[in-house]
Amino acid sequence: MGAMPESDIPEHVPPERVVEFDFYNDARIQKDIHDGLIALRSEAPGLFWTPFNGGHWVVLDTSAISTVLRTPKVFSSRQLQIPPRQNAPVMIPESLDPPEHLLYRRLMMSWFEPRQIAHLKSRVDHWTKHFVANVKDKGGCEFVEAVASRIPVTVFMEFVGFPLDRHEDFRSLIDGMFRSSSPEESQTYAMKIMGELQTLISARMDKREDDLLSRLIDADFEGRKLTFEELMSIGFLLFLAGLDTVTNAMSFGTRHLARYPDFQTQLRAHPERCAEAAEELLRRYTFPNLPRQVAKDTELDGVALKAGEMVLCVIAMAGLDESLNPNATDVRLDREKRNHFAFGYGGHTCLGRHLAKMELEAFYRHWLAEIPPFRIDSSKPPSGVRGGSVMGLSSLHLTWS
Ligand code: HEM
Repeated sequence: MGAMPESDIPEHVPPERVVEFDFYNDARIQKDIHDGLIALRSEAPGLFWTPFNGGHWVVLDTSAISTVLRTPKVFSSRQLQIPPRQNAPVMIPESLDPPEHLLYRRLMMSWFEPRQIAHLKSRVDHWTKHFVANVKDKGGCEFVEAVASRIPVTVFMEFVGFPLDRHEDFRSLIDGMFRSSSPEESQTYAMKIMGELQTLISARMDKREDDLLSRLIDADFEGRKLTFEELMSIGFLLFLAGLDTVTNAMSFGTRHLARYPDFQTQLRAHPERCAEAAEELLRRYTFPNLPRQVAKDTELDGVALKAGEMVLCVIAMAGLDESLNPNATDVRLDREKRNHFAFGYGGHTCLGRHLAKMELEAFYRHWLAEIPPFRIDSSKPPSGVRGGSVMGLSSLHLTWS
């Protein structure tokens, strides 16, 4: 299981609720994240304590996850790092609790609604076609680098208002931040991105354009304008929330298509079902893990949790819950109902979900229209995985002829 756990078990934790699980680097998830989580669920209680990463609770049970995510008074978002980080920067709106959270969320909500982002559709199509065309004649590619990490950056830059001629610079900064091998390296990239954001906000303060940042600058927030720090916080959160997530969704979904030629054939014959397929693939391969901090002593699933303790909700388990999605590991378009928490649950449910779905639908449609039947390139190293709060594939080698 890699490193030894480093923390003592608190006295109030019942011994039968202790399971060793390192969500950054657990041996169970090294080969396949979701198979590893299913294996974990078969051997661990729905709520357990792991001594790894400073010691924290892990929630696998769907009903306990929903209790945690819809009770912010008890399970706070103020601390979203495990192990907890002192003086962690405020991420508006994700690291706020009610009532403050709702004020910002209300302000931002309208700009993310389907009506408000509809104008991005032709741009999403344009960029998707562009990046798919770049690899089409090559007979194969490392998909994460060549496609999945490129589309979301461009769409995001247009949406927020970054100059597109800086696309390559941005992509390498973002890639550096999400794929760095140490917290220090990731912090260096984060600082550079903050620098870019600062320059852009200053430029938009001088001259508005038709973009999200200009709207944020002009917005009325509780009878005043947002401060520079608030604009920076919102802008940086959008980077964190809106880029790596879409990349990972595309990568897990495309790996499934590469592994299951029948599903490829089915979707090629019915491109109008790409939106449904995107949702089903997100359900099957949900990849964020959501941390919360216990704000006051409480009880969950008959177990005492103490103020200050960290809780990790493994939201992938909702989509893989057999009682909610029969034959949950099968990817099927004919499900009567599809239940998952891929975009979270409760007050912090993803604001960017309509944009994400637009990007994923466009991606599957264009990819299948342009790329002939493809499979995993077994001559290349198998795709490595990354654990943590946003789990993902570090590479995915595909081939076609
Ligand atoms: C497939 C892609 C995506 C997935 C799976 C995803 C998932 C999530 C999840 C699970 C949360 C809840 C976090 C929590 O409860 O702590 C969240 C929040 C959020 N997401 Fe996404 N997201 C995606 C794409 C995007 C995009 C494209 C954007 C915007 C450009 C975005 C913006 C946000 C924001 C602003 C929040 C915070 C909402 C709040 O705190 O009220 N997301 N996302």
